Amino acid sequence: MTLKLPKIIGHRGVRGYAPENTLVGFHTAADMGMTWVEFDVKLTKDGIPIVFHDDNFKRITGLDADVKDHSYEDIAEMDAGRHFGESFIGEPIPTLENVLDVCIDRGMNVNIEIKPCAGREVETAEVVLDEASRIWPEDMQPPLISSFKYPCLETAFDMAPNWPRGFLINESEELDENWRKMLEYLRPSTINFNGNAATDEQIHEYLEYDLPLLSYTINDAGLAADLFHMGVHGVFSDYPDLIEDIL
Ligand code: G3P
Ligand code: MG
Repeated sequence: MTLKLPKIIGHRGVRGYAPENTLVGFHTAADMGMTWVEFDVKLTKDGIPIVFHDDNFKRITGLDADVKDHSYEDIAEMDAGRHFGESFIGEPIPTLENVLDVCIDRGMNVNIEIKPCAGREVETAEVVLDEASRIWPEDMQPPLISSFKYPCLETAFDMAPNWPRGFLINESEELDENWRKMLEYLRPSTINFNGNAATDEQIHEYLEYDLPLLSYTINDAGLAADLFHMGVHGVFSDYPDLIEDIL
């Protein structure tokens, strides 16, 4: 199946309008007409894949504790909505299965970003691929599996070679000196780069790979226009409606 990518992908659901990586966020994305959403997955202490960005709960739930130290039973009690606003109080941290079910029901394609806690790269990717392959319907485009971590992409390649991979690069940090070699080895379908930090020179180098470029996280219509003009295919955004205005 050829990968059909949109111009805009909702970031962590639609993070500007609903608490990130929550079911209400994915419903909000669907209500806004998004055809694709991105979200982050890591494992609880007992190996359950949850949709959550940080290694620590503090920013989202207020509890200063690490995800890797808590079982799903504890996490199911936490509130991932209160930080965003009163009307979201009681919104739980969802499992990967919860989120995939909503996206399937709402007909949205997904970019699953594997975001492992340190040392659990392969295990996280294995669980994500197992679970997603079990749930995802064959008549929808397969999920785009992305990660900053090479072992995650390598595991995805081994377990689901026909599912597309997104090669994530963060230009706000020093790049891995082997990134070019790894990109060729991992045979990604997209290059997903940080459009707020990448230089024009870096973007031109990515374009030479002749793969669709996806840029995160673009919340400024002017920057989105510049990126599209340079040949970037699509952007991840917390405020997709702002970007839609320029299309
Ligand atoms: O996958 C694109 C983007 O989400 C990567 O950065 O930190 O928002 O997960 P982050
Ligand atoms: Mg992400």
